[in-house]
Amino acid sequence: MDWRATSEDWLKRLAAPAEATAARVAARRELLLSAAALSVLFVLFGGLSIAAACLGLALLGAWAALFPTELGSGDQVIAKGHVESSGELWKHLIEGIPEPALILGPTGHILYVNASGHDLLGGGRIGLHFTSLSRDPELVAAVDTALETGRTTTVELQERVPVERRRSATVAGLGSQDGTLSSPALLITVRDLTEQDRLARMRADFVANASHELRTPLASLKGFVETLQGAAKDDPNARERFLRVMSEQADRMTRLIDDLLSLSRVEMREHLPPSERVDLEEALGHVVQALQPLAERTQTTLKLQPPAGGALVRGDRDELVQVFQNLIQNALKYGKQGGVVEVSISRRPGRLLVSVKDDGPGIAPQHLPRLTERFYRINVAASRERGGTGLGLAIVKHILNRHRGELEVQSAVGKGSTFTVDLPALA
Ligand SMILES: Nc1ncnc2c1ncn2[C@@H]1O[C@H](COP(=O)(O)OP(=O)(O)OP(=O)(O)O)[C@@H](O)[C@H]1O
Ligand SMILES: [Mg+2]
Repeated sequence: MDWRATSEDWLKRLAAPAEATAARVAARRELLLSAAALSVLFVLFGGLSIAAACLGLALLGAWAALFPTELGSGDQVIAKGHVESSGELWKHLIEGIPEPALILGPTGHILYVNASGHDLLGGGRIGLHFTSLSRDPELVAAVDTALETGRTTTVELQERVPVERRRSATVAGLGSQDGTLSSPALLITVRDLTEQDRLARMRADFVANASHELRTPLASLKGFVETLQGAAKDDPNARERFLRVMSEQADRMTRLIDDLLSLSRVEMREHLPPSERVDLEEALGHVVQALQPLAERTQTTLKLQPPAGGALVRGDRDELVQVFQNLIQNALKYGKQGGVVEVSISRRPGRLLVSVKDDGPGIAPQHLPRLTERFYRINVAASRERGGTGLGLAIVKHILNRHRGELEVQSAVGKGSTFTVDLPALA
């Protein structure tokens, strides 16, 4: 965010109460004058007691004007009972800057640090020279330039310890020095670029991962085509076998592209709240029925525990079906061969919970926070073997974000896993 824009906002916000106070002062002066004029009129025309009351009113007005309680006049600003010199308005301004910001005096000593700056730099910096924060040569040069010429410079600060961080610092001369050591001379605002770098790296990793996932089946397809054109040209058995593998590889590429498109569609609609009324019991019944053949292949018993009472949510049925499909498919794919997968719906005040519980090998704790990352798989070969692309739980996460829902995973090695979807219930 541009700190100058924020500063302008602050100026407007500061100006508003000052204008209101000025209007109140003017009203009091008018009251005082009218009361005085009325008392003169009543004295002239004989209403002595009314004249006395008006005089009292006039005295009250004069007192109010002389001893204001919330008055903005001269160079005093009184806000919420605090008196500050308007010469310190800049403190309010830099408090309005969302980034860490500090003000230096003409000798490079720190005069003020805003609240975000306190979080970043810790308290107790006031009065220290700015080099106690960083001796970065570029920053030191930028401060010198700004003090001498008033020029604004942005420098990049690279930190390696305690954690790697990249920040940018904008050093701006304020050009308002009055020669005293306590007059603000420089404004330094700091922006953390680490998060921005992380997002750029994630984007690059995503493209690299997607390309790699597509390249593997493509390379295999190309290899089989060459074999069929050469060595296996006249071998009907080999041709049959190779064509089957080629068809599987083509299916894998189609699945990956479908998942990538699905992820991008879901991400694009994430900010649009869904509007349909979805009956979770009906949607889950449909998914459980569709996955019975997979359960039979893995000799797993797939059970649906119906809810007590209705289970309505505001949602997008197709997307919720996709969520349950992936969770139940995962339980069948990665659970115990010949085991049991239980799907149940339960209630908490205002919420509906759908749990998918398996009795498989479970998931070690270090994997749990990363499961919803794109292409993250605990065992890549095992996932590929079962036709997985590693995008299923990433899609689940985005769909649940759109539904203001959450995904909770409880698992321990050897104890199976329970994936629970928590959605706001429709009353
Ligand atoms: N119930 C489960 N038990 C054990 N591991 C699981 C379970 N569910 C998911 N996982 C692990 O989490 C990984 C990521 O799951 P995700 O659904 O995102 O991808 P996938 O199933 O491999 O591929 P896709 O869903 O795209 O077909 C899986 O590869 C698997 O290692
Ligand atoms: Mg999956």
